[in-house]
Amino acid sequence: MTTTHDTFPLRFELTPSEAVRAESEREAILADPGFGRFFTDHMVSIEWTTEEGWHDAAVVPYGPITLDPAASVLHYAQEIFEGLKAYRHEDGSVWTFRPDANGRRLQRSARRLALPELAVDDFVESLKQLVRADVDWVPSADEQSLYIRPFMIATESFLGVRAAHKVGFYVIASPAGAYFSGGVAPVSIWLSTNYSRAGKGGTGAAKTGGNYASSLLPQEEAYQHGCAQVLFLDSVEATYIEELGGMNVVLVYKDGTLVTPESDSILEGITRDSLLQLAEDRGHRVERRRVTIDEWREGVESGDIVEVFACGTAAVVTPIAELKGEGFSVGSPDAQPGPLTMSLREELTDIQYGRRPDVHGWLTRLDA
Ligand code: PLP
Ligand code: COI
Repeated sequence: MTTTHDTFPLRFELTPSEAVRAESEREAILADPGFGRFFTDHMVSIEWTTEEGWHDAAVVPYGPITLDPAASVLHYAQEIFEGLKAYRHEDGSVWTFRPDANGRRLQRSARRLALPELAVDDFVESLKQLVRADVDWVPSADEQSLYIRPFMIATESFLGVRAAHKVGFYVIASPAGAYFSGGVAPVSIWLSTNYSRAGKGGTGAAKTGGNYASSLLPQEEAYQHGCAQVLFLDSVEATYIEELGGMNVVLVYKDGTLVTPESDSILEGITRDSLLQLAEDRGHRVERRRVTIDEWREGVESGDIVEVFACGTAAVVTPIAELKGEGFSVGSPDAQPGPLTMSLREELTDIQYGRRPDVHGWLTRLDA
């Protein structure tokens, strides 16, 4: 059976899966989803060519993508992605958070990676189409959500190094619990001094797979030192903090000021932007500026910095208890989560789960 949903400008054709998981199997997965291990029954696929632009929008059964071995993404990593979540509210409705911001960021990433831009309305519609097909996969347990992963790849079979003339955009979804296995427990962070995440004029501000590939080795180093994430410095002076492998960083001063790094080589996090807005709404001062690693170390040691947290869609808000690097550590792995960290986390998740008014108009309904 094939039905179509009328949408403008892209029309999505739905091919329902014939292998939809039984309710009992789905419920068993939703009981303990972890992060990124299980996927729903459908996915979105949209094609792009230089001649036709975006076309053939479809919701199809979840499954392998067939690529020619010469597909340029496999050789030159012309790829971008996004990450956002669908939240089930008390009344059963399903919502997502600031999807237009993710859509605009995908466009910025596309420009940097010489990929075609998808209209923000089409991006948001693709999320709605997938969630409507797989709405039973949106968990209702506390702190759980459906993590949505849109991505775009160069599918043209061509080994010359230039922007591909054929591209695919896909959306998959994965039920999610806590990103870190310890839940909201504070984590230790490893300062990488051997590796950079992004160079000047590079792709640091784009959400592209290569940034994550280059973070894997330093991330291994972090694990070896008992740390959950790696912190990168700027690549020019190795002085200014940038971000973690998959999260932004915010420092909280004892006078209530929140400070976060500004740089053109970090990912502009939507979670960070939202938390800083909530803090400003409460009257906190917010500074987006360059921050040296010494400011962090000395601030924690002197007591001027009273809380540090990491934030991102997958990890939400995670307190940072300890910063370690070659020959030093500040903070303590046993430190308790800071009160501002936890209250901002609660306010943000309350908005996302519909437990508090959405005064900024950040929520978009996905299931209707
Ligand atoms: N920085 C990096 C490198 C990330 O991968 C992410 C996660 O998406 C973030 C920051 C936080 O971004 P957001 O809050 O939009 O998820
Ligand atoms: C996210 O928070 O959405 C991320 O992309 C982080 C990580 C899973 C890559």
